[in-house]
Amino acid sequence: MNQMNKSKNWYRDAVVYQIYPRSFYDTSSSGIGNINGITAKLDYLKGGPEGLGIDAIWISPIFTSPMADFGYDVANYTDIDPIFGTIKDFKNLLEQAHARNIRVILDFVPNHTSDKHPWFIESASTRDNPKRDWYTWRDPAVDNGPPNNWLSYFRGSAWQYSEATGQYYLHSFLTKQADLNWDNPEVREAMKQAMRFWLDMGVDGFRVDAVDGLSKDAELRDEPLAPYHDPAVRPYNYTDLLHPFSRDGPHLYERLNEMASVMAEYDNRFMINEAHPKGDDIVVGYAEYYAAIDPDNSAPFNFQCIYLPWQANAFRSYIDHFQSTMLPNYTPIYTLGNHDEPRLASRIGIPATRTAAMLLLTLPGMPFMYYGDEIGIENVAIFPDQVRDPFAEPGKGRDPERTPMQWDASANAGFTNGQPWLPVAADYAERNVAVQLANNASLLHLYKSLLKFRKSSVALREGSYQSIDCGEQIFGYIRKNESHSLVILLNFSDQAQPLPESLQLEEIMLSTISNRSIQNSAWLEPHEGQIRGLKLSDFNC
Ligand code: NOJ
Repeated sequence: MNQMNKSKNWYRDAVVYQIYPRSFYDTSSSGIGNINGITAKLDYLKGGPEGLGIDAIWISPIFTSPMADFGYDVANYTDIDPIFGTIKDFKNLLEQAHARNIRVILDFVPNHTSDKHPWFIESASTRDNPKRDWYTWRDPAVDNGPPNNWLSYFRGSAWQYSEATGQYYLHSFLTKQADLNWDNPEVREAMKQAMRFWLDMGVDGFRVDAVDGLSKDAELRDEPLAPYHDPAVRPYNYTDLLHPFSRDGPHLYERLNEMASVMAEYDNRFMINEAHPKGDDIVVGYAEYYAAIDPDNSAPFNFQCIYLPWQANAFRSYIDHFQSTMLPNYTPIYTLGNHDEPRLASRIGIPATRTAAMLLLTLPGMPFMYYGDEIGIENVAIFPDQVRDPFAEPGKGRDPERTPMQWDASANAGFTNGQPWLPVAADYAERNVAVQLANNASLLHLYKSLLKFRKSSVALREGSYQSIDCGEQIFGYIRKNESHSLVILLNFSDQAQPLPESLQLEEIMLSTISNRSIQNSAWLEPHEGQIRGLKLSDFNC
């Protein structure tokens, strides 16, 4: 029975847990995680003694795919890849998740299809095929080379020659990921129908992949060299060019709003766009983005907290700036990691992961956690013969952050009875869910406590945000609603830090140090985070 909480606008403050399905849990002994594996772990994800307490899951793509880019190359938008299971398995997952009050967000990949998608196969067959214009085809340049200088995000030219018809097709990522032509209304209609297929089934939202490419320059003009690029070197890497023409084109927002209008046909659904606003001041870029999209049904990911140096000042000034642009109906989407970025624990170091957990789960909006970060999984070393990521250039692949979830100390960390598709971290016997569930001082317990705290605190979920000056090493902010004020104090350094005397603090309500003996302390231990009540008598925000 569907017991899901029907609360309107659940997404405004929901905590989302990203599952990379290949690596979560395998019930089929294939060595690759599957849908039934996610269903089997729903009790872990929901609240309660054995559970984390998240509100929603985002599942990276599970649609039919040759897996050239592990599902980001879709060959059928309305079916499940057999590696992951069946539509029946997915419906069961949806029902079981909803019964636990967990929302389900699917990955949607509108910019490109697999070259094995029937649409592309037709499109590539003859120049006069009705699907020809569903993709971007152009004649070779005079030297028989690619039609323009655009580059693939992964490597090399963004154009691939096709012998059968003597033209090139456009691909912003792998050659096996052909870009759809979003200028063609039939393409837009087909994509909206695919969205409706899953929304009709009861899916709660989408994370929408690579939306920057949904509008491109109609004339396909050459892109300029980046100012720092040495013209003596032939452009090769994506970052050697600026990209005013291949992405973020004039119809981008119109198209995002067209997709958001599909969300609006349904009750209480939401889409989160993988967006990368441009400009010298990225916050201004985000503000323009929010102003142009439909904020009641969509929001852009804010990736900056992944790239900032782990310094209190850097976070304070960025988040202050970002929050100052947020209107009441905007949903900020903060995140500290995903399947494309090195692991959080490896970027900031294990001791700081506790501080990071408190940061993420006490900020306004819809925070996204990445699977395994709750137990502090680090980047896993991948030997050359273990590389699976097609993007892998030496030292650049994304395999290290995609390794199997570490459930327990049994073989393969309890992830599979088969041969895992990527190696399991060497420290899995000590770092796993079972060990950390049994230890009240573990990182996992801290995540559970924070999630529980957040759930019970309207001030954290819905309150205003204002930072306070606590010196160079502490990032402090107040979250406040009509009845409660909380102050969050995060020590970004590895030294103890005194708290400003001017702060009229109540006792510690939650510390990242589980066995802290002094509850009324005037300092933060190294890397410590505290949530405290604030006597508002002499502080207004
Ligand atoms: C962004 C996704 O997060 C990434 O994993 C993928 O390779 C590209 N888009 C292409 O779909």
